[in-house]
Amino acid sequence: MQQHLTVPALLLASLWTLCTGSGDWCYQSQFTCDHQCNAPEKWNHVNGDCGGRSQSPINIVTRKTLKDERLTPFQFKDYQQIFRGVIKNNGHSVKVDVPHLSTISGGGLPTTYKAVQFHLHWGTNGGPGSEHTIDGEQYPMELHIVHMKQHYADLTTALADPEGVAVLGFFYERSSSANRKYDPIINVLRSIKSTNDNTSLLPISLAQLIPSEQNMTSYYRYKGSLTTPSCTESVIWTLFEKPIPLNMDQLRMFSELKFQDGKPMVGTFRPVQPLNGRQVYQSGGAVILASSTLLVAAIATALGLSQPI
Ligand SMILES: *[C@@H]1O[C@H](CO)[C@@H](O)[C@H](O)[C@H]1NC(C)=O
Ligand SMILES: *[C@@H]1O[C@H](CO)[C@@H](O)[C@H](O)[C@H]1NC(C)=O
Ligand SMILES: [Zn+2]
Repeated sequence: MQQHLTVPALLLASLWTLCTGSGDWCYQSQFTCDHQCNAPEKWNHVNGDCGGRSQSPINIVTRKTLKDERLTPFQFKDYQQIFRGVIKNNGHSVKVDVPHLSTISGGGLPTTYKAVQFHLHWGTNGGPGSEHTIDGEQYPMELHIVHMKQHYADLTTALADPEGVAVLGFFYERSSSANRKYDPIINVLRSIKSTNDNTSLLPISLAQLIPSEQNMTSYYRYKGSLTTPSCTESVIWTLFEKPIPLNMDQLRMFSELKFQDGKPMVGTFRPVQPLNGRQVYQSGGAVILASSTLLVAAIATALGLSQPI
């Protein structure tokens, strides 16, 4: 008798917590009538910051970006450093904590930031899955390398500083050949299918996961937030133009992972958020300046206006 009363009571209690938002959040792909979790439209119930005016991700409209000559190339320090990471299925993504050795500076950042962790966002079986979009185009996947100002000890502290966190975002594109530099990550996904599973990675470096430095000079910059609750608005965003190639089989492997409830971990992206008047900047202002100087010189020469002797 006791039991018959307790079980439904417990069920009701747990449904109540799910529906009223107890810190439980989910992606749109996880929302069903049976599992009425807090989908992105309700994240502001989980944390008020998710309803803020400087949220991420955004759609970048390239013709509205402003070239900024202060957005110089980044200095990557110890990005070549090989480390033994642990990769974990945290129920929302796969995440790798990195030793706080690798740093970034330059790139128009106010100071030096150190790498903390990286994780990914993806679609279904290699379909659209990036968080940011460029002129409405959604890429199959997006890498976030999360950094915090060098003097902070943890992300929670860094997030209290409006410029405490710098995230480097990279898009992926489908290529015809496999990207062997991703083997250490992709080959272990099958062993961390369930939420909270983790495993060690073969030694990798951050540098092997991203384009060459020469191919990272073109990027977009804006001020935004974390793209998952708490949605804190303390992030200097950088989105690199040059995508990372992976083939279809490699992209598909991410859809083999599972959410907590055992359903396929797919569609792990937040929809794009309103800009609310924010300006998006683009690197390369200096290059344009240099080439227009050359152009003026060339015209001057053509018109016979070269330096008087
Ligand atoms: C990895 O999983 C093991 C076994 O469940 C656990 O003891 C350990 O704390 C986990 N490590 C991380 C980094 O999550
Ligand atoms: C930059 O990207 C281009 C186009 O994908 C590639 O051909 C080139 O090798 C890359 N440059 C370097 C230095 O890796
Ligand atoms: Zn992310």
